[in-house]
Amino acid sequence: MLYVLQHRLAVVSRLLLAHICTSSSSVFGLVFLSCPRFNIPLTAAASLAHGEMDFDEKQSFGFGGNAMMAKLSRFSWSPFLFLITLIAFLSFQITTKTIYPIKIAFSSTSKTDISSDARTSCVGFFGELPERKTAMSIRDFGGVGDGKTSNTETFRKAIRYLQRFGNSGGAQLNVPKGSWVTGSFNLTSNFTLFLEEGAVILGSQDPKEWPIIEPLPSYGRGRERLGGRHISLIHGDGLTNVVITGNNGTIDGQGKMWWELWWNRTLEHTRGHLVELKNSNDILIANLTFLNSPFWTIHPVYCSNIVVKDMTILAPLNAPNTDGIDPDSSTNVCIEDCYIESGDDLVAVKSGWDHYGIKMARPSSNIIVRRVSGTTPTCSGVGIGSEMSGGIFNITIEDLHVWDSAAGVRIKTDNGRGGYIANITINNVTMERVKVPIRFSRGSNDHPDERWDPKAVPVVKGVYIHNVVCFNSTKAPVLEGIEDAPFGGICMKNVSLFGVLSSPSWRCEFVSGFADEVFPTPCPQLQNNISSSRCSYS
Ligand SMILES: *[C@@H]1O[C@H](CO)[C@@H](O)[C@H](O)[C@H]1NC(C)=O
Ligand SMILES: *[C@@H]1O[C@H](CO)[C@@H](O)[C@H](O)[C@H]1NC(C)=O
Ligand SMILES: *[C@@H]1O[C@H](CO)[C@@H](O)[C@H](O)[C@H]1NC(C)=O
Ligand SMILES: *[C@@H]1O[C@H](CO)[C@@H](O)[C@H](O)[C@H]1NC(C)=O
Ligand SMILES: *[C@@H]1O[C@H](CO)[C@@H](O)[C@H](O)[C@H]1NC(C)=O
Ligand SMILES: *[C@@H]1O[C@H](CO)[C@@H](O)[C@H](O)[C@H]1NC(C)=O
Ligand SMILES: *[C@@H]1O[C@H](CO)[C@@H](O)[C@H](O)[C@H]1NC(C)=O
Ligand SMILES: *[C@@H]1O[C@H](CO)[C@@H](O)[C@H](O)[C@H]1NC(C)=O
Ligand SMILES: *[C@@H]1O[C@H](CO)[C@@H](O)[C@H](O)[C@H]1NC(C)=O
Ligand SMILES: *[C@@H]1O[C@H](CO)[C@@H](O)[C@H](O)[C@H]1NC(C)=O
Ligand SMILES: *[C@@H]1O[C@H](CO)[C@@H](O)[C@H](O)[C@H]1NC(C)=O
Repeated sequence: MLYVLQHRLAVVSRLLLAHICTSSSSVFGLVFLSCPRFNIPLTAAASLAHGEMDFDEKQSFGFGGNAMMAKLSRFSWSPFLFLITLIAFLSFQITTKTIYPIKIAFSSTSKTDISSDARTSCVGFFGELPERKTAMSIRDFGGVGDGKTSNTETFRKAIRYLQRFGNSGGAQLNVPKGSWVTGSFNLTSNFTLFLEEGAVILGSQDPKEWPIIEPLPSYGRGRERLGGRHISLIHGDGLTNVVITGNNGTIDGQGKMWWELWWNRTLEHTRGHLVELKNSNDILIANLTFLNSPFWTIHPVYCSNIVVKDMTILAPLNAPNTDGIDPDSSTNVCIEDCYIESGDDLVAVKSGWDHYGIKMARPSSNIIVRRVSGTTPTCSGVGIGSEMSGGIFNITIEDLHVWDSAAGVRIKTDNGRGGYIANITINNVTMERVKVPIRFSRGSNDHPDERWDPKAVPVVKGVYIHNVVCFNSTKAPVLEGIEDAPFGGICMKNVSLFGVLSSPSWRCEFVSGFADEVFPTPCPQLQNNISSSRCSYS
């Protein structure tokens, strides 16, 4: 009994601590901890606290999600709500004698203890979508969903019109069942784009409907061609509070035309993304199917508080550069429960290119990639880089499932990149028939122009890989660091590769770290005994 009481006290104080740490930095129910030392237990505890708060909020106050969102930035109900939560929590403990919440608070590395209805998620808030006061259909603006008529002007007009409600309860544009051809259009703040069941937005086949915009300053030029780049099909710059969702409606970029331009070497300007959001905050993209992007599919750049959830992203397995989701110089990003099948990385974390990225110095940080699954025959499940010149840190990749792919997780960088990659945690990865399950590589020799600095070497430090199982890969891990800047603190625990087909011995160069419970026997470079704290996972 005393034991249980002690535990309860400990939990309560942890919850309190979690609350203090998160109350200032949780937006949209995203839990982004700012207390450094208690990462994993706190995340679980905090999600619990916040989950219950959302519940209380709806039940006892009838408080609209929208209003809550509006108030979040100004003052916080959370201390009050937290108190109620605490009381509810204690009475729950007393009445049910369950130790379930205690288990959550103390389970440090595995989230399996949490039953499926309490799965860790960063979208507590968006469990209930923000209601917009004004909702209109694209039909109200004269849209024609016949799969032929161009609706470019109609979408632009609709959003221009709905923009005026941004300050009075927000607006929602509904896209009903039908096929709606359109060129690029821009979103607005406090806005929801909602695709009803059977709604398909089709990207225009006229390149002029994807006008040229300025290159990103952290790239200095278009990623593929010098100068400007085609705008994305759906674009946003400087926005806040935007939702793109629906009942599994579809946005189809019809990218084939663009891939052919690429294959034919007749592409004049860098291809556009399906969705790009720039300098924007508080974005949710959920419950849709994105198809056939011309280039990277979802590209948040210079953004924060981004949730991409319950998405299906598909492109032909040979479609060039059709990455799924590429958070780029962005922070507080959560990608979860997505199925992705494409011709490039399922998820790629980036932060700018060589001297342009170094100069801009906008890192990507605090990113969670969770419960992503899929396949990409020539690329990786999750890639870090190769553009990483603004720095990449505090990235968690967990519950990843990859099959029939070139790599499971891959860190890509090179001389000239500068920047750094630090504190990457990879946990619970399952792979089948992946050629190289874990790969670090250099030497893509891919620079924006000849002004890159060969002395700008990237620093890679702190990569914690645990609980990985891989069946029938072609090779054991290939870990190639950079001669002038060896990768340090590479720690592996419980990594098992069964049935390595052709080269079961690890290939390591310019890396150092530690390995425990790793099969087959890792390279000697991972046998160093570096300070245990650097490799602790709890
Ligand atoms: C790392 O990022 C996660 C969210 O992805 C956040 O909860 C945590 O507080 C961050 N850690 C640090 C030390 O900032
Ligand atoms: C969005 O809504 C919030 C809260 O209602 C408001 O403060 C803000 O000014 C709105 N933003 C725009 C661009 O309308
Ligand atoms: C959309 O926004 C971009 C800047 O982000 C701008 O260059 C472009 O002209 C805008 N397009 C329309 C149709 O307003
Ligand atoms: C959404 O549609 C895609 C494509 O048709 C399908 O594969 C996926 O299972 C659907 N998702 C849900 C949640 O129904
Ligand atoms: C690319 O080349 C193929 C044949 O090689 C041709 O069928 C196709 O029309 C070309 N596409 C473009 C967009 O030029
Ligand atoms: C996504 O769809 C599920 C199942 O229909 C629903 O419960 C959830 O609220 C939706 N989420 C969003 C953000 O639309
Ligand atoms: C590991 O990830 C898989 C999804 O790939 C998930 O089904 C499983 O529950 C996770 N296991 C743990 C221990 O979290
Ligand atoms: C990485 O984590 C360690 C230990 O938590 C911390 O001291 C260091 O500042 C972090 N580095 C970065 C770049 O986040
Ligand atoms: C090792 O990792 C695998 C895959 O995530 C997991 O199923 C297993 O329980 C782990 N073993 C230990 C001892 O943690
Ligand atoms: C691995 O290969 C063996 C032998 O070819 C086969 O029996 C097994 O089903 C394969 N497993 C997977 C997960 O592909
Ligand atoms: C590392 O530590 C282990 C035991 O903790 C010891 O057996 C081993 O010899 C050490 N290796 C080196 C290179 O010091």
